[in-house]
Amino acid sequence: MAALHLINDTNLHQEEDLAALLSLTDPEQIEQLRQRAEAMTLQQVGHRVYFRGLLEFSNRCALNCLYCGIRRDNDAVARYTLSLEDIRHGARRVAERGWGSLVLQSGENASAANVDFICNAVRCIKEDTRSSRLPSGLGITLSAGVYSIDVYRQFFAAGAHRYLLRVETTDADLFARIHPADQTLAERVQALEDLRAAGFQVGTGVMIGLPGQTCRMLARDVLFFKEMDVDMVGMGPYQPHRDTPMAGLPIISAEERLALALRMIAVTRLVLKNVNIASTTALEALSPSGRELGISFGANVAMPNVTPGSERRKYQLYDGKPCLDEAADESGIALRQKIESLGRIVGIDEWGDSRRFCDR
Ligand code: 5AD
Repeated sequence: MAALHLINDTNLHQEEDLAALLSLTDPEQIEQLRQRAEAMTLQQVGHRVYFRGLLEFSNRCALNCLYCGIRRDNDAVARYTLSLEDIRHGARRVAERGWGSLVLQSGENASAANVDFICNAVRCIKEDTRSSRLPSGLGITLSAGVYSIDVYRQFFAAGAHRYLLRVETTDADLFARIHPADQTLAERVQALEDLRAAGFQVGTGVMIGLPGQTCRMLARDVLFFKEMDVDMVGMGPYQPHRDTPMAGLPIISAEERLALALRMIAVTRLVLKNVNIASTTALEALSPSGRELGISFGANVAMPNVTPGSERRKYQLYDGKPCLDEAADESGIALRQKIESLGRIVGIDEWGDSRRFCDR
């Protein structure tokens, strides 16, 4: 009963209330939460789901995050950076499919040469993809880590207009347990502020089901998203990678991580209302229907992988990452059909910007 009243509360803002919803176990109550989040999605951002082609353009990384398969110290990974030509080719394919936006994602590399490379790639993609269908070219989201505000300004001036930078968790102790001492939560929060000041639509997010993570912590994560007034949220279940220091740590089962991630999406939708929320690849790693489930629990963005098949297997952030086969996500047809079976439609030739940003 108490849960029902919370599910219908349009002004959820208490940590314990969010934690109670995140802790739901009764299938009927979870279904009510899902329906409420779905209704909030349709009301706040409409029934369109936007695709962003995901191009993982480099797995070189200067960081050593303890959970991540492409961390600097993982010698088992063959490192690559796509050529400018491959990036342009991938972007053109995304535009031809009508997906409207591209996400350029990579490990972190703050060298001046890499900054120039990214700026140049963004400018080329913009030029290449302008058409009568898409007069301003592809919308470009960057997801490439922490840089100075000056660099963020250069990225924005080159033509990127959204940026994703997850804080991974807002719990200071947990953050410290999963990162080397030279990385701090404060630095990521500062970067989010810098991104906003540089003009970007800003997205952040967390991993769900990390060792030692509680529903209280996740509730505080959602309140942090709200306080930061972010435009976009991307979250997914934590999934161990065998070649990382965290590989052996005890975690909740895959089934529980998936279910918790879905409740987290729903609660984020109920609290943040008109933001864009991604249904991430990591959901798919835990269930073949993970991404549709994410959409039915309140997400409105999906990111089909368009990284060339030859490099895709080298961008293994976690074990069991799906879509290693290039054909898997290639056309997006299967995903589109699944989305349509949920009564939603895929936005074509549109950027699908965050309603939150546009209304601000
Ligand atoms: N499990 C789940 N997500 C992961 N990421 C990195 N490693 C893992 C993992 N083992 C996520 C982080 C990062 C994003 C690009 O990938 O949240 O921000």
